[in-house]
Amino acid sequence: AEPEWYVDLWLTIVWVAYAAVFIGTIAKRKEPHIYVANWFFLAFIITIAMLHIVNNLAIPVSIFGSKSYPAFAGVQDALTQWWYGHNAVGFFLTAGFLAMMYYFVPKQAERPVYSYRLSIIHFWSLIFLYIWAGPHHLHYTALPDWAQTLGMVFSVMLWMPSWGGMINGLMTLNGAWDKIRTDPIIRMMVMALAFYGMSTFEGPMMSIRAVNSLSHYTDWTIGHVHSGALGWNGMITFAAIYFLVPRLWARERLYSLRMVNWHFWLSTVGIVLYAASMWVAGIMQGLMWREYGADGYLVYAFSEVTSAMHPMYLIRAAGGALYLAGAAVMVYNVWQTIAGKMRDEKPMSDAAYDPEKDRPITTPTTVPAE
Ligand code: HEM
Ligand code: HEM
Repeated sequence: AEPEWYVDLWLTIVWVAYAAVFIGTIAKRKEPHIYVANWFFLAFIITIAMLHIVNNLAIPVSIFGSKSYPAFAGVQDALTQWWYGHNAVGFFLTAGFLAMMYYFVPKQAERPVYSYRLSIIHFWSLIFLYIWAGPHHLHYTALPDWAQTLGMVFSVMLWMPSWGGMINGLMTLNGAWDKIRTDPIIRMMVMALAFYGMSTFEGPMMSIRAVNSLSHYTDWTIGHVHSGALGWNGMITFAAIYFLVPRLWARERLYSLRMVNWHFWLSTVGIVLYAASMWVAGIMQGLMWREYGADGYLVYAFSEVTSAMHPMYLIRAAGGALYLAGAAVMVYNVWQTIAGKMRDEKPMSDAAYDPEKDRPITTPTTVPAE
């Protein structure tokens, strides 16, 4: 977020080129309707451009020198940077990935999106609310109280559209839930949506000032970051890669579906170890920091808190290693798929899909009276 001014200009060129390709493609479309995924992509491209420009407003020191100073100072600078920071989460790590969700989940499930109306409500409420939530990163700072409260209230409201989006994604699987047993790509998508739901429940909770007084500066934040980054962004990306590779290289199928399943489990266990260890580390850290003795002094030295977290860091390292191992399995699988190979393996489920038995229940079953 803080390169010198000439690097900001290079980044602007890259982004404008990207916007031109995207908008140009939309403008030349033959289908009059613009599907909701493209709305999310467009919001992502425009908002990131806006954030980049405002956050990087700077005054160069001399015409030919590379040094520059930001246009904002003090608390205004902090607020501008977190307006940028939070909307980078909201529009890069959320809107861009929701666009992927809205395209790939219906494609892989071979079902239409659960509710198109809900997706429109989801879109407008998400982009309207996200843009105000930045001050939750600046609780208990020199930022005026009313601005902190504003950020908190909008963050809590943000829970609703976030879950609306998650529900829309999950309910798309209605009538196709049996695929969870046989299709590890669907499994990944479901896990991605579950983590999207978890991190967007956790975020509004952490934005409540009283909760933030414990969580801020601790590893709880790091746990939250990675349940979003690894669970939501990572998993939906892997699923999209698995969907795309056979189609892009015109292969009949992936090299191995069982390896996708391995990837699913390695990354799921990895994330769980990562997030759970950081929750424990973060809450422990927060509680130890604020522990006063009867004498009015802090009970724990900073170094004691740090060494208490050592076991948690080992668990995180193990989780990270599993996650990375899963990604290595994916690279091999993708490589072999591109090479045109197919692994000779048992199908994911031995039992064939039984339309009678596996049909979703649509009418309530009533128990006959005795
Ligand atoms: C309803 C949605 C969300 C809300 C209200 C929210 C709220 C918060 C809050 C309160 C913090 C801690 C601020 C602090 O104490 O410094 C935080 C940190 C963070 N969140 Fe979220 N969050 C949400 C969703 C997400 C998602 C989906 C992701 C990632 C995909 C994400 C990524 C981050 C990151 C990267 C940070 C750390 C920023 C930093 O200090 O470096 N958040 N979020
Ligand atoms: C195996 C995978 C990963 C591991 C082991 C890992 C590990 C870490 C570690 C150790 C930190 C520093 C935390 C601290 O300051 O105490 C960190 C920070 C961060 N990581 Fe990751 N990371 C991984 C993947 C990712 C991915 C895929 C993303 C984004 C999509 C991401 C986004 C971030 C962000 C935004 C921060 C800064 C958080 C903050 O300071 O508030 N990470 N990561």
